[in-house]
Amino acid sequence: MWLPLLCLLCLIALATLLWQGNHWRSRGLKGPFGWPLVGNMLDFALARRSYGQVYEQIYSQNPGLKYVAFYRLFNEPAILVRDQELLRHILVGSHFVDCAENAVHVDPRRDVLASHNPFIASGDRWRILRADLVALFTPSRLRQTLPHVVSACQLLRAQIPLKLEGFEAKDLATRFTLQVVASVVFGLDAHCLDREEECPNRWLQWLAPLFQPSSKWSWLETVSLLHSPRLGWIIGHRYVPLQMQRWFRDLVAGRSGGDNLLQWLAESKRTLTKDELAGHATTLLLEGYETSAMLLAFVLYELARNEEVQRRLHQELDEVAQRHDGQLMDTAALSQLRYAEAALLEALRLHPAMQALQKRCTKSFRLPAQKSGCESETESALQVDVGTVLVLPVQAIHLDPDMWPEPKQFRPERFLQQPQMGCRFLGFGAGARMCPGMRLGLLQTKAALATLLQDHCVLLADRDQDQVEVEVSPLTFLTASKRGIWLRLERRSTQ
Ligand code: HEM
Repeated sequence: MWLPLLCLLCLIALATLLWQGNHWRSRGLKGPFGWPLVGNMLDFALARRSYGQVYEQIYSQNPGLKYVAFYRLFNEPAILVRDQELLRHILVGSHFVDCAENAVHVDPRRDVLASHNPFIASGDRWRILRADLVALFTPSRLRQTLPHVVSACQLLRAQIPLKLEGFEAKDLATRFTLQVVASVVFGLDAHCLDREEECPNRWLQWLAPLFQPSSKWSWLETVSLLHSPRLGWIIGHRYVPLQMQRWFRDLVAGRSGGDNLLQWLAESKRTLTKDELAGHATTLLLEGYETSAMLLAFVLYELARNEEVQRRLHQELDEVAQRHDGQLMDTAALSQLRYAEAALLEALRLHPAMQALQKRCTKSFRLPAQKSGCESETESALQVDVGTVLVLPVQAIHLDPDMWPEPKQFRPERFLQQPQMGCRFLGFGAGARMCPGMRLGLLQTKAALATLLQDHCVLLADRDQDQVEVEVSPLTFLTASKRGIWLRLERRSTQ
């Protein structure tokens, strides 16, 4: 008696799952069929490809379309936007208000501090929290942060003799950016670049591995963050682990004035609650080190593989140093390092920290009709329902040969000649939610680059690596390399 009932229930469950995979077809839209549970993200579900690589494949397989209706994990209907004009409407134009939320799942009760991050907040709360942070990155405030960056560069320079034989670039870069952000945000010396490297230190032990694929939970955490609040609840996922939340609160409570971001926040016109202050400190720390460290590691890697680009960079470093009495660490000299900045942007194009921006529709709107590329058939306009995720595939756009000829080549010149990027370059996002810390990110990475390369060349640790691309981890939300980036430094012979 139970068996037929069980079979019937299984059939109903299967039919429901298959029906869900037909969501878009039932609306008259052509698109890939969504498989139960994995939708069109099987390779991501099996940890064979990163989410950005899966979106890149969907993007390149549908060349004629303005947008592709597909299914994310758990068969969630989503729209991948391909068209530049549409991207502009969504990020900076009339549709920004219709999908102003980032599609990330963070439980504000479990993650009190992370919920203050503008990236995670929405509505009026986002506006207020973002305004607090934007005020910290004006050009004059940025000038005031320079001494923190310069002190970290002095410690970085002292590390160079130890790096001649070989080093893992992301490790060194993370030590540097942690040293910078601890100082910029709190005015603290984090001792991340001390000679006694093995000395235990929370900055290195807790923060350095946070966004790395080293933890066995990495994939589940990424899925919880991007796809499933329910899974997040089951595994008790916290964007900021509890012990770290306590530590950040202690650091904020123990702050002692000085010229740093936290102090400026405490003195700001709007009176901040304790939670808001600790929340902002958390945002500034977490957003401040990892993305910049990854960028620094990738630009060193690309320079090591591209001798001619490195030669041109050295030439610029020499010329600017000559104009500034050999001194590169001041605002004027750093701002003249235009080729270095272009190299950083080009490295970010090839290796974007966020492989896709994912926005959630908060107010229903219509996408224009589009021609189906292969069958030259006009489809009607698409009503986007509240809750639908719109994927803006940053990595796919950055590697699209129609927008970037020979897209895999590392050519900083692209960023010298083309000030108008539109939505072709989304390394920092665009529009009202664009990264507010961009200038600090570029300042610290550029200063580190100048420090490391003023008197040295960077080379691949292993010559054979030249042919091999860095493998991106399929497990993490922020781009991370699977096996590390191994390089070495060599003193420059001619200057
Ligand atoms: C090279 C370094 C960096 C990269 C590549 C980067 C990249 C990004 C990207 C792609 C976004 C999403 C933009 C969007 O949703 O349209 C973002 C948002 C954000 N970034 Fe950065 N970032 C960097 C450095 C920093 C730094 C140094 C800080 C602060 C200390 C920071 C703070 C933030 C914040 C608060 C947001 C959320 C903004 C909002 O939603 O309103 N970032 N960043």
